[in-house]
Amino acid sequence: MKLLLSNIKELLQIREGNVQKINGADMKHLPTLKNAWLLLESDTIIDFGPMDTCPETEGTTVIDCSGKMVLPTWCDSHTHIVYAGNREQEFVDRINGLGYQEIAEKGGGILNSAKKLQETSESELYQQSAQRLEEVMALGTGAIEIKSGYGLTTEAEIKMLRVAKQLAENYPVTVKTTFLGAHAVPSEYKNNKDAYLDLVCDEMIPKVAEENLADYVDIFCEDGYFSVADTDRVLTAGKKYGLIPKIHVNQFKAFGGVAEGVKHNALSVDHLEVITQEDIAALQGSNTMPVALPSCSYFLGIPYTPGREILEAGLPLALATDYNPGSTPSGNMNFVVATACIKMKLTPEEAINAATLNGAYAMGLSDSHGSITRGKNASVIITKEVPSYGYLPYAFGSNMIDTVIINGQKI
Ligand code: NIG
Ligand code: FE
Repeated sequence: MKLLLSNIKELLQIREGNVQKINGADMKHLPTLKNAWLLLESDTIIDFGPMDTCPETEGTTVIDCSGKMVLPTWCDSHTHIVYAGNREQEFVDRINGLGYQEIAEKGGGILNSAKKLQETSESELYQQSAQRLEEVMALGTGAIEIKSGYGLTTEAEIKMLRVAKQLAENYPVTVKTTFLGAHAVPSEYKNNKDAYLDLVCDEMIPKVAEENLADYVDIFCEDGYFSVADTDRVLTAGKKYGLIPKIHVNQFKAFGGVAEGVKHNALSVDHLEVITQEDIAALQGSNTMPVALPSCSYFLGIPYTPGREILEAGLPLALATDYNPGSTPSGNMNFVVATACIKMKLTPEEAINAATLNGAYAMGLSDSHGSITRGKNASVIITKEVPSYGYLPYAFGSNMIDTVIINGQKI
């Protein structure tokens, strides 16, 4: 089926050729076309151009986009949307003065979510997760990465990844999956972290690979969770089974995890609320994408990733939600883009680049997603009537989305 979007006020993020990611100062530029048309056929972007070259519309469904912007759907490269229940009690505990890490030390946090998930059936877990996925699709997310890491037993980790794979089959959104068995040390292994890592490396990773359940391997490299040496071990084990590294690092402390990720040619290093000159130097000249998660900073009240510093060092930057029950119970990429502008001082151009093409890169999807490019996947957002694209992050609390098309399907 052919779908023509006509009279588009401004078509955003148009790219010719095969641009994989956008670095540093180049992120200031968002290529656009005013008064444009865009032609989609089934799941593919066929062509676009200025209205005076608009093709014939016979046999084509037309959507009039007068006054509206059209842009590629968001690429959310970091989520944990497969989880069971919620942690609103910890939210209240934090309001009353407890710290995020203090709560974790008392058996709350990730271990609390793991307990809930282990007790939840696969079908119930699917139902809860599908509801979240539907919500974020309606908010304009067309490609999403989903992590395990709330199972912490072989059985429960596999259950999480099966649910993620089932979501990928049943929805038009493009899904990438990540094995995050090394998310926290389960209480049974409290005094024997190495034995848990044996389980992760010798049992979980081979099983996950055998069932082809994950694209990536991840670890929470952080004080009180896993060390740089543990990171080395888990990423090495994952790579042996074809899993590409992506890590949680520098959320609270910087102690060399970024360089370790780069050493393993990680596709992305995520969080980076604290970052040192050594971390920046390690990233320079690498293929690793730094990923900021500003709604995590917002929710926990922790520092924002110094995005300006990262861009001024000539590095690229991607933005993602981190949607999870503990640190970010929100999967709204529009809010992420707005918060990156408001709190990290990214310009709208930089934030949109970070949430589309650079997000696609951070989940290995630059060839098919993240820009309006002929031959790429037909996944676009049509906004409501807006004065300019800067209005999107400006109107941060309003939903400015009119229509979402994912893989050629109207949501
Ligand atoms: O990315 N930081 C590690 N993991 C998740 C949150 C875990 C949780 O609190 O449930 C994150 O923020
Ligand atoms: Fe995360």
